[in-house]
Amino acid sequence: MNVEQSGPRLLTVCGSLQRRSANRAILRLARAHAEAAGAIVEDFDRLAELPAFDPDRGDEAIESVQQWRRQVASADAVLVAAPEYAGAIAGAVKNAFDWLVGSGELYRKPVALLSVGTSGGRHARRMMAQTLTWQGAYVVADLGVASPRTKLDERGGLHDMATAAALRSLVRALVDATTGPSRALVGVATAVLASLGVEEGHVVPAD
Ligand SMILES: Cc1cc2nc3c(=O)[nH]c(=O)nc-3n(C[C@H](O)[C@H](O)[C@H](O)COP(=O)(O)O)c2cc1C
Repeated sequence: MNVEQSGPRLLTVCGSLQRRSANRAILRLARAHAEAAGAIVEDFDRLAELPAFDPDRGDEAIESVQQWRRQVASADAVLVAAPEYAGAIAGAVKNAFDWLVGSGELYRKPVALLSVGTSGGRHARRMMAQTLTWQGAYVVADLGVASPRTKLDERGGLHDMATAAALRSLVRALVDATTGPSRALVGVATAVLASLGVEEGHVVPAD
């Protein structure tokens, strides 16, 4: 990251490990929107290198875990795009989140969630919203993109106008969340949880 640049720092994370990923294709488009809105975007692309979470190893110097924690800590906001597998969040993503529970990098961090896949991944988004909220993150926006093959072209372009507009709004909401007061984030996060059917009592109070 270039320290001379200004603008909110956004970290993108793709929860799919497969080469040809609809989540990654949408994340690339989201990145372009974020950069157009003035954000400085970094990506974390090493989910497959994070070992299975083990509390006994929480303080161990595992290079991939250290990089993950460092990148989340230095970001002003995080955008996760993750597939739903068998009605639940992809395991690699939950594993990555688990490495942050003890070290706390997600505390009061604005996060936006995407799930691209057959159904639009409502279960994946709900589960991510729940666990991220329990870690103290503010989930400020979420978007499910169903049937991506009908919306993405061969080169990863999005030809569904409603989805393109919703993606722009999601990115805008995340970028805006980096500048607002935390009491505003509490309200937004509470509304997102309600829309996903997640119990709202764990939203961290404003500082
Ligand atoms: C093992 C497996 C389980 C899946 N389970 C679901 C599911 O529960 N809900 C759903 O909407 N899609 C499900 N899908 C389809 C994925 O949404 C679809 O493959 C999606 O494109 C995966 O994201 P990716 O292209 O970014 O890898 C599943 C796919 C696989 C391979």
